[in-house]
Amino acid sequence: MPVQKVKTAVVGCGMISQIYIRNLSRMFSVIDLAAVCDMRREAAEARAKEFGIPKAMTIDEVAADPEIELVVNLTPPFAHYGVIRQMLEAGKNVYTEKMFTTDLEKSRELCALAEEKGLLLGVAPDTVLGAGIQTARHLIDIGLIGDVTSVQVSINRNQTLNSEFFRFLRNEGGTLPYDVGVYYIGALLALMGSVTEIAAFANPAPVHEPQVAFLNEGADPWRIPGNNLVAASLRFENGAVGTVLFDGNTIAQSQHVFTVYGTKGILKVGDPNEFGGPVTLLLPENDPVTVPFTHGFDGKNWLGAPTSFDHYGHRGIGVAELAWALRKGRPHARLSGAFGLHCQEILQGMDAAAETGKTYAVQSRFEMKGLTPGFYSSMFDRRARGDAEASLMD
Ligand SMILES: NC(=O)c1ccc[n+]([C@@H]2O[C@H](COP(=O)([O-])OP(=O)(O)OC[C@H]3O[C@@H](n4cnc5c(N)ncnc54)[C@H](O)[C@@H]3O)[C@@H](O)[C@H]2O)c1
Repeated sequence: MPVQKVKTAVVGCGMISQIYIRNLSRMFSVIDLAAVCDMRREAAEARAKEFGIPKAMTIDEVAADPEIELVVNLTPPFAHYGVIRQMLEAGKNVYTEKMFTTDLEKSRELCALAEEKGLLLGVAPDTVLGAGIQTARHLIDIGLIGDVTSVQVSINRNQTLNSEFFRFLRNEGGTLPYDVGVYYIGALLALMGSVTEIAAFANPAPVHEPQVAFLNEGADPWRIPGNNLVAASLRFENGAVGTVLFDGNTIAQSQHVFTVYGTKGILKVGDPNEFGGPVTLLLPENDPVTVPFTHGFDGKNWLGAPTSFDHYGHRGIGVAELAWALRKGRPHARLSGAFGLHCQEILQGMDAAAETGKTYAVQSRFEMKGLTPGFYSSMFDRRARGDAEASLMD
């Protein structure tokens, strides 16, 4: 019997909404994208027209619509708390883009509210459900690299240069660790489980002189608030240790590192900011090999003609995974509020450890079930839809 689709609304029709709206309206049988909403009504109307979505609504109309069960929050981080709270109070399940909120206490409060109301609350990044990270997770789970002993991750950017283009980066949550590092933390957690303890050193972003070439002529210099460079050591609950380097104070060319060491082998994992980063396996006495993906959602467009936003991949998997938890009445076992809270506590714990010079004891814990292997996004050379959605059902 066909599943009853989950009526869904997207709130926030800015840049990232294009990929979400396209994927949510066409990629998942469990989602009925019934409405889009933005505080700028014209933005919502434009997106509704572009993608053939039935309704453009105000936020109060979304809250009052009894048919909408699930809200996808794509507003900027500083607006997340208000939007999530209003939607939970209106009885909606919510999936939010990262960061959860800009304040750990407020995120805890939202998790408690969702629990009290019996609603599901999901938090990005859903790149951790992509083919790359899920394949790495599967290889670890089946013991190919033995017991994991340590992990090393690193990413760099010129974050202040990025804030010339993306103005929201000049606000709270705009530093490299929060804006991009969260993908690395999310992937670390998906592969390694909970973190118990953090030590760290950090530096702020430099004061940035506006660059006239980017139409910021006449603007005052600005400094992204918070630590834009963090070097941290983590201890995981499973006994492994890890090092993390997020450097937003260097040049734009990203040089990502993501290596997991085990007693029997080593895995090199692709960029966790993407869905289909390659996974390379090193075993003793063998040349390194790129492992074929064991999972779907590799981020490649199979929904029609190429678009300028295809590189944002399969964003929306996390929303569909939450929707399947609703329909199957099963636990919300992947990108739960507890996962979002743990990601945020680790980022804030790095800041706290750097500030105090003492190790930070992490209070929160989470659990994440891997997706079932053996399902793929497309078939017949990307000409047709595959069965990857089935991997989100259980
Ligand atoms: N831009 C990216 O590459 C990217 C990638 C992944 C995730 N994200 C995340 O997605 C979210 C949105 O990013 P974006 O780049 O699309 O931002 P954006 O600034 O382009 O769009 C945000 C939209 O939200 C609307 N909005 C703000 N407050 C609102 C409110 N209270 N109610 C209704 N609408 C409101 C704004 O009018 C705007 O149209 C952020 O959380 C960001 O961290 C962005």
